[in-house]
Amino acid sequence: MQASRKRTIDGREIKAVVFDAYGTLYDVQSVEGAVEAAFPGRGSLITAIWRMKQLEYSWLVTLMERYEDFWSITLRSLEYTLRSLDLSAGGQLLEDVAASYLDLKPYDDVLECLGRLAPRQRVILSNGSPAMLSTLAAKSGLDTALDHILSVDEKRAFKPAPAAYMRVEEELGVSRGQVAFISSNGFDICGAKSFGFTVIRVARTIADNPRVPLTGTGLDERFFFSLMRGKAETLDNAADITVHSLAEIPDLLTSRKADG
Ligand code: LAC
Repeated sequence: MQASRKRTIDGREIKAVVFDAYGTLYDVQSVEGAVEAAFPGRGSLITAIWRMKQLEYSWLVTLMERYEDFWSITLRSLEYTLRSLDLSAGGQLLEDVAASYLDLKPYDDVLECLGRLAPRQRVILSNGSPAMLSTLAAKSGLDTALDHILSVDEKRAFKPAPAAYMRVEEELGVSRGQVAFISSNGFDICGAKSFGFTVIRVARTIADNPRVPLTGTGLDERFFFSLMRGKAETLDNAADITVHSLAEIPDLLTSRKADG
């Protein structure tokens, strides 16, 4: 099983610790309150479809070489979601609900982890547009705990396109072998490992919680989402190591060899 596989990290080589943003540092489920307020009774379903469609659109526009920035993708995927459920939202309501992506809640383990990683460079590499990321970091207060916030926007390609990960080498002046990349998103883990980073998977979702019942009438949307997007992929390029909290990461990197 992925989580119990023994792997090692040589922390001496690592000069930059690079985090995915959405779903890794920030809880994308935290939009659910705003969505529920706008569409009572549909918050959980809309939140799940929206996020799935948002990523799907990011891959589509990249493959088609018709890049639009992540704010546009976020709006369009919300529009798709509402339309698919026969809900209507005018331009302003759409913008207002989408704005919940600018005010996501960071996970509880983020600040301590970032604090303990210094003096290594602490970095975000995200699909988010520069404006989305700077707003998010400022609102959540993470801006002061990060050394760099990198957007893929300049490359006009979303992760897992290799060009997107290349931003790290180009901006930070480190080689891919000197980067530990942390993500909870299966596709991102796969892409980052394929690119050549050392990859740490953070298992964020309830799909990793064996106490969640697999049977019953009806499937909870959150659980369905985590089954689709929260598990390790079965493609090649698995993470080097899996953790269940970012709090585990500083110790992994300070010891010469750590077992996972
Ligand atoms: C990001 C998406 C992939 O932050 O979660 O880039």
